[in-house]
Amino acid sequence: MSGVQVVGVELADRSYSVVIGSGVRRELPTVLRRLAPTRVAVVSARPPDMLSLPDVATEHIAVREGEHIKSLAHVEQLCRRFAQLGLHRDDVVVSCGGGTVSDAVGMAAALYHRGLPVVHLPTSLLAQVDASVGGKTAVNLPEGKNLIGTYWQPAAVLCDTDFLATLPRREWLSGFGEIARCHFLGAGELRHLPLQAQITASVALKARVVAEDERDAGRRNVLNYGHTLGHALEVATGFVLRHGEAVAIGTVFAAELAGRLGRISSRRVAEHREVVAHYGLPADLPDDCDVAQLISLMTRDKKAGRTGLAFVLDGPGGVEVVRGVPESTVRTALEEMRHAPCPTT
Ligand SMILES: NC(=O)c1ccc[n+]([C@@H]2O[C@H](COP(=O)([O-])OP(=O)(O)OC[C@H]3O[C@@H](n4cnc5c(N)ncnc54)[C@H](O)[C@@H]3O)[C@@H](O)[C@H]2O)c1
Ligand SMILES: [Zn+2]
Repeated sequence: MSGVQVVGVELADRSYSVVIGSGVRRELPTVLRRLAPTRVAVVSARPPDMLSLPDVATEHIAVREGEHIKSLAHVEQLCRRFAQLGLHRDDVVVSCGGGTVSDAVGMAAALYHRGLPVVHLPTSLLAQVDASVGGKTAVNLPEGKNLIGTYWQPAAVLCDTDFLATLPRREWLSGFGEIARCHFLGAGELRHLPLQAQITASVALKARVVAEDERDAGRRNVLNYGHTLGHALEVATGFVLRHGEAVAIGTVFAAELAGRLGRISSRRVAEHREVVAHYGLPADLPDDCDVAQLISLMTRDKKAGRTGLAFVLDGPGGVEVVRGVPESTVRTALEEMRHAPCPTT
């Protein structure tokens, strides 16, 4: 394997490596030998023959991606399978799939026997650059997304870029939405780098932030750039917009808002639009979006803060949380972004 890149997530005794490159799934036997399990449960949305495994008792549990697997009921099902397989604390769980799989399997691994090592093999671009790294796991409630979760760092992450060969176009866009926001969080100019280098830079940025603030005490908020409006748009459009597409619009909105608040220049606002456009991502609000509904959803966002409208915004000192943003400024910025037709599914 040539050209493999490794990013360390430095968290004392919970430190681990994220290995990125073509064919890195073949590192799995080496990773597992180091962890020395008696049994391995592989929870995978990809066919079993896509993974090479070491010579230990291995069980393949087939799952399908989607928000439906992010439920407590599904986590219970997974834990029951682990129990039926006789998994103990020194055994290992492997996840292979998109971000919904790493979130649900990560949570099952965190809970079963109060915590089993988990190795993630993310197969979507979004899961490679974001969901599989950083140790947040979550499932949904009917009342909202990601309302129940744990912090459970994986033992290793293998981002095999070969998995991406079969990724549908909208899922590429979704991953690029997360990469696009990294430009403004200190990852620098990524647009003209090869894909693997863009993934590595995005992972390295997240690793740095997580190492500083594993449990969301403050700094980790910057990763929420573009997400306050992004989450609201996902709900308002009935999840017609993929996560990263909504985040791309949210990133442009964050720039428009920061511009209006005099925090950044019009040149910097334009740069946001250029980066988002480079990836073929939407930059404007769907025409039929209800601005009042978006504002109401953003006020309820669990990361928005308790004191009215709060956003992660760019500024002279970089990206930071800004509280007490006037609703009238938010409304005007949203109204002016209502130009784009809603994307087709
Ligand atoms: N824990 C975190 O820090 C974190 C961060 C970001 C996102 N997330 C979560 O991640 C989830 C989104 O992840 P996602 O976008 O990967 O969603 P997903 O798991 O639903 O996968 C997206 C789609 O891509 C398909 N897919 C995945 N890999 C494929 C491949 N190699 N070939 C063909 N098709 C493939 C899936 O079948 C699915 O249709 C959300 O639930 C979100 O909350 C978590
Ligand atoms: Zn995101």
